[in-house]
Amino acid sequence: MSTLVSNIGELVSESDNLPARAQRYAFSFDHGVITWIGPEDQAPQCDDIIDAHGGAVLPGFVDSHAHLIFAGDRSADFAARMSGDSYSAGGIASTVTATRAASDAELRSNAQRLVGQMHSQGITTLEIKSGYGLTVSDEQRALRIAREFTSETTFLGAHVVPAEFKSDPDAYVDLVCGDMLTACAPFSRWIDVFCDRGAFTPEQSARVLLAGKAAGLKVRLHANQLESLGGIEVAAACGAISVDHLTFMSDMELAVMAENNIVATLLPGVEFSTRSPYPDARRFLEAGISVAIATDCNPGSSFITSMPFCIALAVREMHMSVDEAVRAATAGGAQALDRHDVGRIEPGMSADFLILDRPSIDYLAYSPGTSPVQRVFRGGQLLRSSHE
Ligand code: NIG
Ligand code: FE
Repeated sequence: MSTLVSNIGELVSESDNLPARAQRYAFSFDHGVITWIGPEDQAPQCDDIIDAHGGAVLPGFVDSHAHLIFAGDRSADFAARMSGDSYSAGGIASTVTATRAASDAELRSNAQRLVGQMHSQGITTLEIKSGYGLTVSDEQRALRIAREFTSETTFLGAHVVPAEFKSDPDAYVDLVCGDMLTACAPFSRWIDVFCDRGAFTPEQSARVLLAGKAAGLKVRLHANQLESLGGIEVAAACGAISVDHLTFMSDMELAVMAENNIVATLLPGVEFSTRSPYPDARRFLEAGISVAIATDCNPGSSFITSMPFCIALAVREMHMSVDEAVRAATAGGAQALDRHDVGRIEPGMSADFLILDRPSIDYLAYSPGTSPVQRVFRGGQLLRSSHE
């Protein structure tokens, strides 16, 4: 059955062939896939009509970085940081203890709650990492549960060195590259490492990424959140699709990212929640790097499920225009996940789109704290609605 989406305030398709904000445009979809986009007065006859009531329409958000399989609570860590403590990778250990002790049902229902919040905020594609189990069975369990929510699953056994391996971190890296990878690869699309102070060295990171790649996984990396250790060079050498965080970046590192066509995934929720300096997105854009924005939803450094809030931060604090930030949260996220079927409204793409209750996408950044996302469609189906 064909459906026409019409009466759109402004249509932000992220298609390279259309105006950034097209006026008096419409589009149609059939069986969950976009079939046509163009001026409304040329629209084909369709079986059904969705009336946008003059609201802006844009692609569903693609959140390429989230850690949703965990238990426990670290709100006190956040409160302590706001009183002057600083963030360190060491806090992950308390979530590992709580996650190992939790039942499958607890992990599943916690993830379900967060995924539900993400859907309501317009996220239609999301990635989920392991990384709070850090044993063969706990990491595999996290990925099995993550798979119930998304096909974009990432094995992050190398998140931190768990307490029982503190005296011999390389033995833990052996485990990650060996039995843990064997157990986890069937449930994963991606391999990732936290390459930073208090986590893994560039040498250890390269070992894990190359082992994952040899097992058929695609490569992404956490780097330069706390300091620049050499992770960017490792990412380039290992063929990473995206490097994420990038709070601290030299011009040389920016040049390496650009030369190797690596997507920069910026995570403004982390700078917000850890009171760190925001990276200047202009430096990335001017270097010719593709930028994505993601929530990094996790209990430690960014307990945030709202992509509109991340867009508002990217605009206000990272110096992106609203158009650039929305692109980073849609087409940019898709690029960071190497996905060619989501992130844009154009023929052949999945019919994943958002109808706002405001006429322009500016409201996403202009009115933070009140989401203008009114109706969320995925594969042409209504996923969430706050429509009265
Ligand atoms: O992406 N940086 C490493 N990992 C997570 C934080 C994990 C935590 O603090 O629990 C992140 O920020
Ligand atoms: Fe992360």
